[in-house]
Amino acid sequence: MLRDSLDRPVDGGDWFEHHGTDHFGDSESRWDGDVPHLTPNDRFFVRNHTPPPAIDAGTWRLLVSGDGVLGDTTYSLAELQAFTSTTVERALECTGNGRRLFGEQQGGARPGTQWGLGAIGVARWTGVPLRTVLQHAGLRGDAVQVMPVGLDEAYVEDGVSYGRVRRPLPIGKALDDAIIAWEMNGEPLPRDHGFPARLIVPGWVGIASIKWLGELRVTTSVVYSPWNTKWYRMHGAGWSDADATLDRMPPKSVVDATGDLAVGRLSVLRGRAWSGEATIRMVEVSTDGGATWDEASLTGANEPSSWVAWEHPWTPAAPGAHEVLTRATDSLGRTQPDRAPDNEDGYLFSAVVRRPVSGAGAAPVVDTRATAGLETP
Ligand code: MTE
Repeated sequence: MLRDSLDRPVDGGDWFEHHGTDHFGDSESRWDGDVPHLTPNDRFFVRNHTPPPAIDAGTWRLLVSGDGVLGDTTYSLAELQAFTSTTVERALECTGNGRRLFGEQQGGARPGTQWGLGAIGVARWTGVPLRTVLQHAGLRGDAVQVMPVGLDEAYVEDGVSYGRVRRPLPIGKALDDAIIAWEMNGEPLPRDHGFPARLIVPGWVGIASIKWLGELRVTTSVVYSPWNTKWYRMHGAGWSDADATLDRMPPKSVVDATGDLAVGRLSVLRGRAWSGEATIRMVEVSTDGGATWDEASLTGANEPSSWVAWEHPWTPAAPGAHEVLTRATDSLGRTQPDRAPDNEDGYLFSAVVRRPVSGAGAAPVVDTRATAGLETP
């Protein structure tokens, strides 16, 4: 893989599509060929607001502070690792994954990194439940939020500094299944992915999973950050304060790249489906533009907040361009809509994806003599 001077992946025509240097290495995984169930660390999408910091794990400390705990406590990596650890398979997906499709499918291009559908990966994360650390640090019963703060540089946009990347997490989710992770697929977190420790907030928008974790500010009142007021919330017509907050990811599905399918021959379409805080109940496939739908077979593991592989047999009848549409329904009963809810920043592209595939070869010849009952040579 090609890497730049900061050891970030760049577009080498391999697994990454690089989205320019303005976002310090934003790169998405390609959906070509055989997509592994666990995304290898060096193929995992990267989304950085600023250059990834180089942190010395030996001197690194996590500070737990705020009026929601009895006092300040700091933890070294070794101290965190002394708690009983847990390992979970979970997806991490960028809030803007699929933004390009607002333009391509809905005629309303949105500004920002033009992600296709590769700003998602699935890994096995090892760490300590956030709950364990908060309780150890003296969590008060009236705490309502935790604000994780990253150690990367303050984020500056148009000459305005918004401070370090941070986004409040409601105490309910913090005590439920969030973890402070130091391993990704059995290896120490790579620098791009938050070394030495990051938060993993399963099933929630990727911005919740703060990397290069430096501080957890626990509060007894609701506080905000630009990452849940200015960005990473819905803006635009029709959104009220009540429904604009972004947390759980919606169900999504896609067919993997197929190459040319042979006309008149049975092929197997394969892809993946996933949903935040839910498993996948059903994937449907349409090869006639959405007029009719067939249920695909789910294959392999189907963990909540991860992805499940699916497959479906299909025989293209004619050469040329076809579209394969896929629609997932999750265990919470949510189904992908035909159209994703519009919003100014192009978050949560959740609609049924129309994926072009092509049929190669000539259309099968129908032998009319046989159907007319004539003798065939
Ligand atoms: N945490 C910090 N400190 N700085 C960041 O830029 N990016 C967020 C989140 N955590 C970010 C961060 C966003 S928008 C996403 S989608 C995920 O990290 C991306 O994680 P990854 O680069 O490991 O795939």
